[in-house]
Amino acid sequence: MLYGLSVRLQTNDFADIEATRKLAVDLENNFEAAQSAGCILCAFAHHAHAEESVIFPPSARTANALITDLIKDHHELTRRELEIGQSARALLRLRTPEERVAAGVRVNQLANDLIGVYVVHMNREEAELVPAMREHFTDQEQLAMQGTIIAQFPPDRLMALLGWMLPALNVTELSELLAGVRQMAPPPLMNAVTELCDARVDPSRWTAVKLRVGL
Ligand SMILES: [Fe+2]
Repeated sequence: MLYGLSVRLQTNDFADIEATRKLAVDLENNFEAAQSAGCILCAFAHHAHAEESVIFPPSARTANALITDLIKDHHELTRRELEIGQSARALLRLRTPEERVAAGVRVNQLANDLIGVYVVHMNREEAELVPAMREHFTDQEQLAMQGTIIAQFPPDRLMALLGWMLPALNVTELSELLAGVRQMAPPPLMNAVTELCDARVDPSRWTAVKLRVGL
């Protein structure tokens, strides 16, 4: 999603007001105000909410200093996301294409800064929080946390997030996910997920997954 945001911003023609208006809609950072279930910054904001409500409270019992740092990061990320959304909206009020192009450069810079901070944050969660969770929680407890996070999503937001996630998985990860969904989820959800894979996953990777899972 971070790299997708980068590509989206760097290929946007800020002189084109309609394309830029659509971009600003997708840069909304608040799900409640969003006009699009696929809004990019909303999903980033959800990252912090899901972790702080489900994962961090039990993890803080054994890794309090780490969790304090990660929450500080989330506040910093939220501040940066808000600034990007506000800058994109302010850009729409500019009168000339030249002014928008100049302001677009600034939005790109803000997004690059966000991406840098975000990647460092995610690496730290992978390198420090994940091993701590593996040490202190059983597989069942971690699966229960995952289930709680997924259950928090309204269906349209879940599908929008899966639209980002499914094309980013490798063949083994996607095969395991599809096998799990087929086993646990009702058939309409399985159909929706396979349709999303048809539309979004690289065709050669998707063909390999179908073969492996027997779809
Ligand atoms: Fe986080």
